[in-house]
Amino acid sequence: MNNSSPVWHPNTQMQEWTQFDKIVKGHGMWLIDSRGNKLLDGVASMWCNVWGHSKKELINEIILQTKKIPHSSFFNLTNEPAEHLAKKLVKMSPNMKHVFYSDNGSTAMEIAFKIALQYWKNLGIKNKTKLASLENGYHGDTFGAMSVGYAQQFFSKFKDQLFSTNQMPVPNKYRTPEGYSFSEYQKHCLEKIEMLLSKNKKIAAFVMESGAQLAGGVVIYPPGFQKKVSQLCKKHDVLLILDEVATGFGRLGSLVEYQSQNSIPDIVAYGKMLTGGYITLGVTLTTKKIYDAFLGKFEDKKHLFHGHTFTGNPIATAVANENLKLYEKYNLIKKINSTSKVFEKRKDDFYQLDLVGDVRTKGMLMGIELVKNKNQKTPITSKKSINKIIFEAGKLNGIYLRTLGNIVMLVPPLAISSKELEFLLERTFLTIKTISKKYDFRHE
Ligand SMILES: Cc1ncc(COP(=O)(O)O)c(C=O)c1O
Repeated sequence: MNNSSPVWHPNTQMQEWTQFDKIVKGHGMWLIDSRGNKLLDGVASMWCNVWGHSKKELINEIILQTKKIPHSSFFNLTNEPAEHLAKKLVKMSPNMKHVFYSDNGSTAMEIAFKIALQYWKNLGIKNKTKLASLENGYHGDTFGAMSVGYAQQFFSKFKDQLFSTNQMPVPNKYRTPEGYSFSEYQKHCLEKIEMLLSKNKKIAAFVMESGAQLAGGVVIYPPGFQKKVSQLCKKHDVLLILDEVATGFGRLGSLVEYQSQNSIPDIVAYGKMLTGGYITLGVTLTTKKIYDAFLGKFEDKKHLFHGHTFTGNPIATAVANENLKLYEKYNLIKKINSTSKVFEKRKDDFYQLDLVGDVRTKGMLMGIELVKNKNQKTPITSKKSINKIIFEAGKLNGIYLRTLGNIVMLVPPLAISSKELEFLLERTFLTIKTISKKYDFRHE
């Protein structure tokens, strides 16, 4: 049977999918399809859902704001929810003083890159034109984001059109190269970064995800790594751009991840969980130093050349305001730190499974790396999409999973209960066990 829908799905080989389950309703942490099947949302609907899918306060805020004004342009005008949210974001984000609105994580990062590059131009420094980043980093699917977060397996088709960046190694304990201890390798990575920043005077900014790389395979930075990168940037007069699109707002156990990493960015981006996962919004925050470099007479043309139709949308910003209120009301960060103990408690169980090479967890995040051979750590491969195999097996176990390559990602809604998290882990365990029986990954 062919899929007769005209819809083209993201990152999907459409020929392999005869149909897609239609989600018609959400109830708490559960997704309900048109046949009444319930699936526990194991990836927070692409890592953005905070409170589950039926939080009254957020839904009411959407209705309330829609009745007032659903959208009015941010060009020449402003609106109350966007003004209020900017104040809140600045208050919660140390050193940040200004907020530029957009509509998703990729655009929030594109804006960060443009601000950083134009910053140096505005100061009259012409040679700082390059961006550096970490290998395996992911910052979105737009051209700038693909250039900075270049991953061969995703973006090679566009390589000719992407701008060149300097990618530095990242310390991933499980994949420490032979001949190094993990601490030696961390030192090596930092030395490489320092060498680049000190020698290459073209580097305008260093870009990295804050706290951990998610799409790059759940690589959780060792303590002190991000702080050291931040210090190196200051020392060598390179801007630091932190991407908290996936890792901020409590995902790793802190509201502002860069604060808990003792790092000081010049520019930071938030997205995903900003609205509780209810509506699309991205923000790029900067320090006063950065913002001030864009001030001048109109004829100087120092202002930022960027804007979107839905920049500062009142519904999205009103929902984000309400969402932040709920973080306080329900003491969400404390709850995350308590619930996430379930991840720690259950982590070692997964090593009983033949396919599991490594399990990494922090806050409301777990990455389970599947390998053919535990000693050689060779990632499992298959002619079929591993994501599809795991998604289908997960569905039979009552959970919604979307994996990235050979890494099973558990990224549940932040307010999930301990009981539901236990369920998710138990069913994930069963799912991996089932696929290891059904497929011969060792010989594929
Ligand atoms: C760290 C990071 N940055 C940026 C993005 C892009 O966000 P969006 O998908 O909203 O464009 C993502 C998406 O997963 C992300 O994980």
